[in-house]
Amino acid sequence: MKIAVIGTGYVGLVTGTCFSESGNDVTCVDIDETKVQKLRSGEIPIYEPGLEEMVKRNIKARRLFFTTNYEEAIPEAKCIFIAVGTPQTEDGSANLDSIWKVAETLAPLLSKEAIVIIKSTVPVGTNRKLAAQLKSLTGREVDVASNPEFLKEGAAIDDFSKPDRVVVGVSRPEVSEVLHELYKPFLRTEHPFLSMELESAEMTKYVANCMLATKISFINEMANLCERVGADINQVRRGIGHDQRIGFSFLFPGVGYGGSCFPKDVSALISVARNQLMEPTILNAVDQVNTSQKRVLFEKINRYFKGDLKGKTFAIWGLAFKPKTDDIREAPSLVLIDQLLEAGASLKVHDPVAMENVKAKYGEQLSYFDHHYDTLDDADALVIVTEWNEFRHADFDYILHKLTTPVIFDGRNLYDPENMTQKGIEYFGIGLSSVK
Ligand code: UGA
Repeated sequence: MKIAVIGTGYVGLVTGTCFSESGNDVTCVDIDETKVQKLRSGEIPIYEPGLEEMVKRNIKARRLFFTTNYEEAIPEAKCIFIAVGTPQTEDGSANLDSIWKVAETLAPLLSKEAIVIIKSTVPVGTNRKLAAQLKSLTGREVDVASNPEFLKEGAAIDDFSKPDRVVVGVSRPEVSEVLHELYKPFLRTEHPFLSMELESAEMTKYVANCMLATKISFINEMANLCERVGADINQVRRGIGHDQRIGFSFLFPGVGYGGSCFPKDVSALISVARNQLMEPTILNAVDQVNTSQKRVLFEKINRYFKGDLKGKTFAIWGLAFKPKTDDIREAPSLVLIDQLLEAGASLKVHDPVAMENVKAKYGEQLSYFDHHYDTLDDADALVIVTEWNEFRHADFDYILHKLTTPVIFDGRNLYDPENMTQKGIEYFGIGLSSVK
């Protein structure tokens, strides 16, 4: 099938590449000339395991093309996926300017059979508005579909190629049949293709992300309570997780969720609810808990050093909002860095892949190290913010030898508190009984 994908950000690039991998003829369109030039030579603008190889393979097989010119992509395409950004505006709602701009540009080029599919996360009602806009621009009915994406950064190819489910919103069954055909190579019996109304598909995306964000804020609040009552959140997790109605996944306490999706989508759904004159109590709480959770590590550090952080040096391991990505958008590390700098501390930082992005934001204000152990020289404490695998098996004797104060503040509970005590290291995790 001939496919066009508009927008070569995370979702667009992965979508286009995976559809070309399953044998389709895909042209990706982006307005950024430099980006398109790089993509043509197989250079990808993001860090995503396995993606670059897949892009190169499909370019070579002449199934994957990149252009800035809509005319090279749209007229022959049966399915046109819109995967442009829908950033947060100041009032929390989603900014849809890019979607309307794309619609205007592609309308005169659409073939009669074309289906225009929104993959970007958009508020309820956007697909119907798009259908109305395309009708007024072309003078005829154009098929529109909603096809939200559920992939995670760092596991994007697997998530796209082996989805738990594919959700599409359509206004007539024939459209759903075309999309079902396209997704067949990725489906399995237990991972179905779910066709529904446009509004339900749009809402599914927000509800999925907000449910996951709710789980995280809930477990973080429980972790904070565990600390106060002398319970251990790790044991409580085990205690609740075996109840199949609760389960274990996405209930790891930490320093709050970040990234380009959860914070934005929680705010956007709050805004959707307020537009309906409904105050979303749970969503408001999820957001508030997350904002304060991002400050928890600083509070622990500040309490330990009795409010005297001026002139202290901290080693920080992990800056990306989660492992396996260089993305620092809404990352908890940024809140911590700002608080520590404000308090007059010096920071020696390391991240396996996100360091360039942090450098671009903080420049000379921080000291950057290519190896995580090199941050430890003369540091007063070690602070762990992102759970990269390479931090999991640390050489504690070396850490002990290097730190001026034998103390670790761990925002991801990577280490065994008993082992730390035996080593003579004071250890502060999230929700652990030893932490007061
Ligand atoms: C998230 C969703 O998981 C995807 O399904 C969705 O498609 C995507 O948003 C999107 O809307 O595009 P992503 O933002 O890449 O994916 O990252 P996640 O792996 O979901 O992690 C989000 C945040 O939650 C991270 O900061 C992570 O550290 C935190 N988290 C996750 C926890 O604090 N505890 C957990 O148990 C799990």
